[in-house]
Amino acid sequence: MKNSELFDSARREFIVKGLGVAGGLVLASSTFFSACEFTEFKSPSEPGETNLVLDTTTEQYNVLAAPGGAVAVAGVVVIRLSPDRASALSRICTHQGCDLDPNDNGSIVGDRLRCGCHGSEFNTGNGDVLKGPAQVGLRSYPVEIRGNVLTVIME
Ligand code: FES
Repeated sequence: MKNSELFDSARREFIVKGLGVAGGLVLASSTFFSACEFTEFKSPSEPGETNLVLDTTTEQYNVLAAPGGAVAVAGVVVIRLSPDRASALSRICTHQGCDLDPNDNGSIVGDRLRCGCHGSEFNTGNGDVLKGPAQVGLRSYPVEIRGNVLTVIME
């Protein structure tokens, strides 16, 4: 084999390997960037969030048809206080951020929503702190009741 042929062969091999490495880098970088896509977490407590429409004739929300019923939906705990009144409170405890889902870490006793982590208690009607260690009340959202449908106004 002549020197020029050896050179061409080496050059060809270099180009092929180079393309392979470059292709691998492109593939790896596209995988990396797609895996690192920024997913914005939007808290339900932020203004502009879509209102929650809860139909109490559905199995998912039928506990809200009667006073005393409560369910965690998105970022709020919705509580049916009476036939014509319901509340919606942030489900994130203001003490250290535990979830106040009444079917999990939280519980409702009388007019109190209790956090299972350290025992803070909040007024089910307006979210005010009734017992520490939490010092700040829960954000409260208006709830409209029309027939069997509760609408939590998140804006
Ligand atoms: S996180 Fe709820 S009382 Fe501590």
